[in-house]
Amino acid sequence: MSIEQLAETALAMVAPGKGIIAIDESNATIKKRFDGVGIECTEENRRAYRELLLATPKLSDYISGAILFDETIRQSTRDGVPFAKLMADNGMIPGIKVDKGTHALAGFPGEVVTEGLDGLRARLEEYYKLGARFAKWRAVINIGDDIPSGTCIDANAHALARYAALCQEQGLVPMVEPEVIMDGNHDIDTCYEVTEVTLRSLFASLYEQNVMLEGTILKASMVLPGTTSGDDASVEEVAAATLQCLKSTVPATLPGIVFLSGGQSDEAATAHLDAMNRMGPNPWPLSFSYGRAMQSAALKLWSQDIARNVAQAQATVYERARANGLAALGEWNKAA
Ligand code: 13P
Repeated sequence: MSIEQLAETALAMVAPGKGIIAIDESNATIKKRFDGVGIECTEENRRAYRELLLATPKLSDYISGAILFDETIRQSTRDGVPFAKLMADNGMIPGIKVDKGTHALAGFPGEVVTEGLDGLRARLEEYYKLGARFAKWRAVINIGDDIPSGTCIDANAHALARYAALCQEQGLVPMVEPEVIMDGNHDIDTCYEVTEVTLRSLFASLYEQNVMLEGTILKASMVLPGTTSGDDASVEEVAAATLQCLKSTVPATLPGIVFLSGGQSDEAATAHLDAMNRMGPNPWPLSFSYGRAMQSAALKLWSQDIARNVAQAQATVYERARANGLAALGEWNKAA
C-alpha cells in the first residue's frame, strides 16, 4: 500500500463538512446502551440497529465513514447486502475497531493498558479483505490521585504506535485514539497537562515506530474539567484550551483530527467542535468521530417501537450528522 493511497483515505475521512460515526461498541458496551433503553441485546437486534444507522438516507451528506465492530463488519442488511458494501456503495468508508479493550496495568493500580497486538497483522489482513480501509485503537488514560503515571502513558503510546505501523503495512489508515477520561474531580488545567503529556508521548512513539503521519488520523479527547469537579467551563474556554493543547503537540503534517464525545451532551459536543473551527484557520481539519453524541437520541426513539420507529430514528441520526457536519466547518447555528 502506498503512502499516497493511505493519505487519500485519511483526507477523505476528514473531507470538508464531514466526519465519522462511531458504531464500534463491543457486545458488552452495546448491551449497556440497550439495557439503558430496554432493548434486548440479541445478535438480531444489534444487526437491525446497526442497519438503521448505516442505512440512514443521505447519511453521506455529512458522514465520511463509520467505525464498525468485528461482529458488525461480518453482518448484512435484512436484504443480504454486507454492511461494508452498503457503505462503499453510498460513498462512506468502512472502518474497524481492532483493539481488544483495556486491562489492568500490572504494578499500577487504577491504570489500564489496551491489549490486542498479538495476531493483529492477520486480523488486519482479513479486515482489509472484508472492506475496511481504516482502523481504530483506543487507549484509556484515567486522571485521579497520583495518576496517570508516565509508565501508563508510555505503555499505551507504544501499543498505539505498534498498532499504527501494522495498519499502514496492511493498507489501513490508523485512527489513533488516546482518550483522556472525563470522570474525576480534576480541573481543566490538569486535563490540559495530562492531554499534553499523552500526545507528546504518542507522537514520539509514532516517530520511533516509523509511522507515516500523512496516513494517520488522531482521535482526540477535548480538554475539559472533570465531571465531578463542580467546575463549569464555557464553550470558548474548552475550545481555546483544546486547540492550544493540540497546536503545541500535534505535527501539522497530520491530515486531520477527529474528536470523541466521551460522555458530553449532544449539544456540548457539537458546540465545542463548532467553536474550535470558528477560531481557525487551524493546522488540520477538525471534525468528529462521535459515538454517543451521534446515536443517543436515535436509540431512545427507536427503543420506543423498534418495528415502527426506524424512519424517525434515522431522521434524528441525520440531524445529528448535519449539526456536527456544520460544526466541522464552524457554521453550526444553535437555534436552527
Ligand atoms: P463516544 O463519542 O461515545 O465517546 O465514542 C467514541 C468512541 O469511539 C470511543 O472510543
